[in-house]
Amino acid sequence: MELLSEGSLIWSAVVANTRMNRERNASGINSYEQEFRFRPQDILLEYIQQQGHVSWLDVCCGQGKALIQAADYLASRHLQGQALLFGIDLIDSFLPVPGNITCLTFDIQSAVDWQPKQCYDLITCVHGIHYVGDKLKVLSHIFTALSGNGRFYCNLDLQNVHIQGQKADYLKQLFRKHHIDYNSRTKILSCQGPRMIDFGVTYLGADDQTGPNYTGQEAVTSHYVTSQTSMS
Ligand SMILES: C[S@@+](CC[C@H](N)C(=O)[O-])C[C@H]1O[C@@H](n2cnc3c(N)ncnc32)[C@H](O)[C@@H]1O
Repeated sequence: MELLSEGSLIWSAVVANTRMNRERNASGINSYEQEFRFRPQDILLEYIQQQGHVSWLDVCCGQGKALIQAADYLASRHLQGQALLFGIDLIDSFLPVPGNITCLTFDIQSAVDWQPKQCYDLITCVHGIHYVGDKLKVLSHIFTALSGNGRFYCNLDLQNVHIQGQKADYLKQLFRKHHIDYNSRTKILSCQGPRMIDFGVTYLGADDQTGPNYTGQEAVTSHYVTSQTSMS
């Protein structure tokens, strides 16, 4: 099995697949609401009502449709000044941001290179982590970047994370220990509030030849080995 570096992975046909669904709406048909059972705009409003401001980071945001729709929702209620919305994606397929939207920023960037510079009240990653190489690095950054009561939701297939020298339920146990919810049926990872997690692993590389995961789409399996420090 040939493991790809992050640099090679971005050229993989699995990651660069133009048929990927990058067009999810915030709510309704083909939406974030369908994935996570909440409307992002409602959560944003809830934070604004509770604390006066809100920030949302959408990792692997695709076209950024959900962000644009949520920003538009806030704009129509004159709440943009209290919101900061960010989308990052490897590929620049972002839709044009309407002129009336001032609270939204898109960045072309690999999630693996992203370093949190602030905290976020909502972090989402909708069917994006399936294509990321070092998934656990991205997750550990996300966990630290949540605000005090910030919420995180992500689709994750644990079949796409392989850790040499560990039992299959290693990650599930680690998530449980850190009060991170993983629903094995829906494959949704979620938590509230920040945490520092040492996964105790060293990243080896990515395999883009493992075929479809539960989504029916080809995905990338991330390979790790238990690091020396955590074995001793
Ligand atoms: C299936 S699409 C989902 C897009 C969006 N979340 C949606 O639901 O409409 C997956 C997205 O992940 C992005 N992606 C893949 N690898 C990435 C990486 N390493 N860093 C950032 N984005 C990545 C792809 O470019 C693609 O836009």
